[in-house]
Amino acid sequence: MKDQFGRDIHYLRISVTDRCNLRCRYCTPPGGSDRRGVLSLEEIVETAREAAALGFRKIRVTGGEPLTRRDIVPLCRALSAIPGVEELALTTNGVLLPQLAAELKSAGVSRVNISLDTLDPEKYRYITGGGSLEEALAGIRAAWEAGLTPLKLNAVLIGGFNDGEIAALAALSEHAPAEVRFIELMPMTGLFGPEAYLPNRAVLERLPLLEAAGTGGTARQYRLPGAAGTVGLISPLSCSFCGGCNRLRLTADGFLKPCLHWEAEYSIQGLHGEALREKIREAVLQKPARHGALSFQDRSHAGRDMNQIGG
Ligand code: GTP
Ligand code: 5AD
Ligand code: SF4
Repeated sequence: MKDQFGRDIHYLRISVTDRCNLRCRYCTPPGGSDRRGVLSLEEIVETAREAAALGFRKIRVTGGEPLTRRDIVPLCRALSAIPGVEELALTTNGVLLPQLAAELKSAGVSRVNISLDTLDPEKYRYITGGGSLEEALAGIRAAWEAGLTPLKLNAVLIGGFNDGEIAALAALSEHAPAEVRFIELMPMTGLFGPEAYLPNRAVLERLPLLEAAGTGGTARQYRLPGAAGTVGLISPLSCSFCGGCNRLRLTADGFLKPCLHWEAEYSIQGLHGEALREKIREAVLQKPARHGALSFQDRSHAGRDMNQIGG
């Protein structure tokens, strides 16, 4: 459906849990987030069905880590079966994909985006608060083998941490038709100083051979000469993409969030049928034209932690 600025809102991002098996420093605050209740499978599916009736066509399942939810496979099967839903995708850290990739594919998930900020095991452990790079890489291979493609790999670009790995990460797009995406660090956890906030321009400066190759949702796409895949730049700070925003979010505890970096939320708890549909309509119509200032001095106005919203 159209919002009040004429944008076509048809992409629903559903956070199905705020729990995560990792603790990325740009996402989860040091003490963890306060725990909240979580919607049931039935509540999530009913909300998605009403959204589809309003014209939503794409669903992305997020977290926390969505694969830690025990009913993730039946949940995806139910979401992909909703009439009108043309694409069901999922964003994950990949660690649980070796067990789940094939089942997710047969439950109707078409593709996954996987976080991969570094290729150095020590740095991976540091940025994820104890995670194993080997497990994440095994997850990426499992997604590939299960056909959860086109694969997108998300690297949050952090000055002083992984800016020395821009070329190595981008090179992953050379031999496989995957998209390696560099994402500007959004100010969520307060753990990073100004030097960590690198504009995506740094990627273009480091890789002068990149050729423009179009746009894909939030990302501007580029290609290394002769590469099978692409490099994507997601620049929420240096080049806001709010004008083309097409999304609405549902938090794990049952709030519609019209904008990632905006405090307003609309509870769907206890709502069914026409009342639920009306609440979704209201949330879409309340989408702001753009979010407020976002920089290392201006913390996000999300009002929640990233793991509670799902990015
Ligand atoms: P595609 O469907 O493959 O285009 O995925 P996506 O980019 O929508 O989703 P993904 O979950 O992989 O998110 C990639 C990055 O974009 C994450 O850092 C998200 O936090 C960020 N992102 C997604 N949607 C928005 C948005 O509406 N605003 C801002 N500022 N960032 C967003
Ligand atoms: N800034 C930019 N991207 C972030 N993500 C999580 N937190 C942040 C942040 N502060 C990204 C992760 C994950 C996706 C869901 O959101 O890379 O892939
Ligand atoms: Fe977990 Fe993803 Fe947040 Fe990392 S970015 S802590 S994997 S939800």
